[in-house]
Amino acid sequence: MASVGSDTCPQRITIINVKGGCGKTTVATNLASAYASLDMNTALLDFDPQGSSMYWLKARPLKLPKLHGIAAYRDKGPGVTRSFHLRLPHQTERVIIDTPAGLTGLALIDQLRGTDTILIPVLPSSIDIHATADFIRDLFLIAKVRPQRTRVCIICNRVKPNTLSFRALERFLHALDIPVIAQLRETQNYVMSSEIGLGVHELDNKSNQQDIDAWQKLISWLEFGKPVALQ
Ligand SMILES: Nc1ncnc2c1ncn2[C@@H]1O[C@H](COP(=O)(O)OP(=O)(O)O)[C@@H](O)[C@H]1O
Ligand SMILES: [Mg+2]
Repeated sequence: MASVGSDTCPQRITIINVKGGCGKTTVATNLASAYASLDMNTALLDFDPQGSSMYWLKARPLKLPKLHGIAAYRDKGPGVTRSFHLRLPHQTERVIIDTPAGLTGLALIDQLRGTDTILIPVLPSSIDIHATADFIRDLFLIAKVRPQRTRVCIICNRVKPNTLSFRALERFLHALDIPVIAQLRETQNYVMSSEIGLGVHELDNKSNQQDIDAWQKLISWLEFGKPVALQ
């Protein structure tokens, strides 16, 4: 298995958008399983009270690369500090953070504290484009994210090329100075894999090569251009 190397301090990658249903959990679980497949010590933190990432992790077959899950949305319990509740195993290299929809104001600021990379999934629909435009404004004006310190990237999700809605999304993204690091196509592979605790690259159905390619590009981008091979 390929390795993308390790750092002393874990890299924190937060998947966030004010909009529900845009693919936050799909990106978080696929990214976490992709890093685990690359032999990286990976933690998956779920801040969404719906607990979808933890539900996915419970369904994950034992024989697959392991991930450390933290149900961060759960009450930390009496006498337990927040940092103890959210403590990471020793030698964690990548921390993937799934978030709830609708975060604004102080909750948004709190959620983004300490993150190295912000990934924003966006769907090609006018409602999603509108909500994402407002969210990106909040990110810079309210949460005061500084691109010199925190990388901000966009992932187009459920892409159907050559559709009017995708062209509208392309126009919107073109006007922003934020890199689009992946286009994930609309496919049942995401639905099937999420139900059984897999990343899309772990499906054994031979129709996922395009999806594997998309995730390899995404990981390569996040890891500064190193070619990697998922298995
Ligand atoms: N690229 C995709 N192709 C097909 N279905 C997708 C894709 N991305 C997400 N989905 C499905 O869309 C639904 C919402 O995605 P999810 O990741 O749960 O969004 P969020 O966490 O932002 O609410 C889920 O049922 C998921 O399986
Ligand atoms: Mg979710």
